[in-house]
Amino acid sequence: MPTCPYTKKVMQHFNKPHNFGEIKDADGIGKVGNKQCGDVMYLYIKVKNNKITDVKFQTFGCVAAIATSSVITDMAKGITIAQAKKLTKDSVVKKLGSLPPIKYHCSILAVDALHAAIKDYESKQ
Ligand code: FES
Repeated sequence: MPTCPYTKKVMQHFNKPHNFGEIKDADGIGKVGNKQCGDVMYLYIKVKNNKITDVKFQTFGCVAAIATSSVITDMAKGITIAQAKKLTKDSVVKKLGSLPPIKYHCSILAVDALHAAIKDYESKQ
C-alpha cells in the first residue's frame, strides 16, 4: 500500500476542518481559484476594531487545499489586519508540518484567499 504523502496535521485538518462554512454578513469575502486544478476557495472575515474576529471558509478542492484553508482560519482568527497581511504560504506550510512540493500552490491559494478577503474589506471602508 502506498504511504500517505501528508503529515498527520494535514490529515487532521482535512478530516475535521476548522471554521468550515459561510459568514452571511461577512465584512470581507475572498474568492480565489486555480484554473489548472480547478480548486476554488471562498474565505469570509468579520472585522472589529481592526481585528479579525471571525473567519470561515468553503473550499472545493484537494486535501491540501482544504487543510491549508482550515489552518489559515485558525491563524487569522483574533489577529489584526496588519498581522494577517504578513501571513505567508511558508507560515501555513510550517503550521502543517510540511506539504509535498507538488502541493505548495494549494497553500498559496489559502493565503491569497485571506488577502483577497482583506482587500475586499478595505475597499468597503
Ligand atoms: Fe490545486 Fe490543491 S491541487 S489547490
